[in-house]
Amino acid sequence: MSHFAFIGAGQMARAIIQGLLAESSFGPEAVACLSKSGNSSAQLAQETGILCAKTYEELLESATVCVLACKPQQLDELEANLPELTAGKLIVSILAGTTLKTLRSKFPQARGIVRTMPNLPIRVGAGLTPFAIDKPLSDVDTDSVKALFESSGKFFEVPEDQIDAITTISGCGPAYFYKVVAAVARAGESLGIDQALAQSLAKETFVGAARLSEAVDTPADELAEQVRSKKGVTDAALNILEANELDAIFAEAIRAAKERACVLADNTKSFN
Ligand SMILES: NC(=O)c1ccc[n+]([C@@H]2O[C@H](COP(=O)([O-])OP(=O)(O)OC[C@H]3O[C@@H](n4cnc5c(N)ncnc54)[C@H](OP(=O)(O)O)[C@@H]3O)[C@@H](O)[C@H]2O)c1
Repeated sequence: MSHFAFIGAGQMARAIIQGLLAESSFGPEAVACLSKSGNSSAQLAQETGILCAKTYEELLESATVCVLACKPQQLDELEANLPELTAGKLIVSILAGTTLKTLRSKFPQARGIVRTMPNLPIRVGAGLTPFAIDKPLSDVDTDSVKALFESSGKFFEVPEDQIDAITTISGCGPAYFYKVVAAVARAGESLGIDQALAQSLAKETFVGAARLSEAVDTPADELAEQVRSKKGVTDAALNILEANELDAIFAEAIRAAKERACVLADNTKSFN
């Protein structure tokens, strides 16, 4: 008798299910999953004790909440009779760039639709999950959605028209910071620091800087200035980053992410 049915059993589904099982009152018997090949779902079921469903009928038979956790491009590959199978159920989507309107046209008989955008740090309970709804949720549905995301970090409602922009910051953001850490480590190596030490220095510095930023109420630019002294060592490095327009590079990258989110939204619209 499952309560939550996951379509897709990849890394995001795994993180959500692990948080759900660790922190809520729901046990593995309340969760089922299904994947395309059956491999990722079988593995996740083996790791967590949840049900690995073989068919959509088995997956959704007793579930009241259906979590969409495949890739957005895979939405149109899903079972043709999904609209009937999800009738009366709550749909919770984590698909990037897939609007409430598209989801509503795909699941016309769902009792409610929640569009969320979790980020990867939900794996360690430090995630951010903004969400938007197409109509107010009942108390029971609110509790189900809370059970899914509350243990994985911060969870907050936003207007839907903000979600694509928010995705480019908090959804994609972990990747930006990991790339910076990797680049700093490689720069250290180029100065002759051993590879493992350079990686550890870059990573620990990133973690320490993040913890300090969390502990104090000081804007990031000001924290950077606290490290910098005029004509000092950090100043020499920051001058290069500024001369090479770090702000402009991020602005361009984040604009590209936003454009991609819009293309995904347009493509998923055309699936209907
Ligand atoms: N990664 C992130 O940081 C992040 C952040 C926010 C939101 N998201 C969203 O999270 C979603 C999942 O991302 P992910 O990184 O977890 O993906 P993933 O690891 O690639 O997992 C995708 C899952 O979907 C399954 N799937 C594919 N086609 C299917 C079908 N026709 N029927 C049933 N299952 C199907 C796959 O099954 P097989 O393994 O059998 O192919 C796999 O289990 C995406 O929509 C993404 O936009 C990701």
